[in-house]
Amino acid sequence: MDETHAVRLTGVSKRFADTYAVRDLNLDIEAGLFFSLLGPSGCGKTTSLRMIGGFTDPTEGSVLLAGEDVTALPPNKRNVNTVFQSYALFDHLSIADNVAFGLKRKGVEKAEIRRRVGEMLELVQLDGFAGRKPRTLSGGQRQRVALARALVNRPAVLLLDEPLAALDLKLRRQMQVELKQIQREVGITFVFVTHDQDEALTMSDRICVMNEGRVEQCGTPEDVYEHPASRFVASFMGTSNLMTGTYRGGEVTLDQGPALPVGPRAAIADGTPVSVSLRPEKVWLSDFEPGMSVLRGVIRDTVYSGPTTTYLIELAPGVTLSVLEQNTARARMEDRWSGGETVEFGWRPEHCLVLA
Ligand SMILES: Nc1ncnc2c1ncn2[C@@H]1O[C@H](COP(=O)(O)OP(=O)(O)OP(=O)(O)O)[C@@H](O)[C@H]1O
Ligand SMILES: [Mg+2]
Repeated sequence: MDETHAVRLTGVSKRFADTYAVRDLNLDIEAGLFFSLLGPSGCGKTTSLRMIGGFTDPTEGSVLLAGEDVTALPPNKRNVNTVFQSYALFDHLSIADNVAFGLKRKGVEKAEIRRRVGEMLELVQLDGFAGRKPRTLSGGQRQRVALARALVNRPAVLLLDEPLAALDLKLRRQMQVELKQIQREVGITFVFVTHDQDEALTMSDRICVMNEGRVEQCGTPEDVYEHPASRFVASFMGTSNLMTGTYRGGEVTLDQGPALPVGPRAAIADGTPVSVSLRPEKVWLSDFEPGMSVLRGVIRDTVYSGPTTTYLIELAPGVTLSVLEQNTARARMEDRWSGGETVEFGWRPEHCLVLA
């Protein structure tokens, strides 16, 4: 038995009628991690989470929790708890009673319940709210009650299905930080579902990127962002300049444009059609260093967005590259281009990635 894996899915598939929602999913989630399932709408995130929780039976494969095969066990026999997107609090109960609900049903002693509920409300920074009703709380506060209610049973694993989706952007950012802090404090394994790549990048120890029911890539936030395993991951994680061309001897000749030196990539035969990805922030517009690839192009558009400015540079007829510059204190605004200028731009070959 491998106890270091809080959750292990082996060969898990789920078919609804004749379509697969999840196909041959293999996941190892190490205990104590903040683990995210990330992908576009309909890619199978909720279905995967429901199979871990026991709310949906897999068509094939097995689900292990802390080394124990729980595939045939109902949700209440699994040491997990779930926070859903609609956090369904009991409106007629006080905040304290909402949090205490599961403990009462289990027959936990009164004094113990009071102690643990107090502890949880403190953890989610709602001490002082114990006697209030859910309707008198803000969205973010209600979300924290839902979290306290799910954590009070001390599950080994907490499943969270887009728990922040209903919150406005500012509150969501704040809750992302808080949720991550709470996870560190309690040390419980979190399996967090989101379709928001920024959210996954900021919160997770590990990210599993899914697409059409399959895993595209699993790794640390840095792995999936800096070393995307596929064209899908490169385009889903942040923005990327994606181009197509033909590989030959360490260069990719674009379908409509020049040859770009690219990073090392094992075993690609010359003449293979490939995609290349170059992140906007990996392209420089000045101060080039030896070994960099430098080309010339025409600035076609500039988009100022506060801390950054994005330039659209045409490097060949119909081929534009997005380039991101930081507007730091050292960058002089009067040096910014307005459009129409011919400029040099460069990148390190290892940042020009060849993708499957
Ligand atoms: N009970 C069901 N019956 C039939 N099809 C279903 C059922 N539940 C999910 N599906 C289908 O399975 C696929 C995956 O759904 P799932 O809810 O897991 O996606 P998701 O990644 O959570 O998407 P979202 O980000 O929109 O919540 C979808 O195509 C969906 O229509
Ligand atoms: Mg979903």
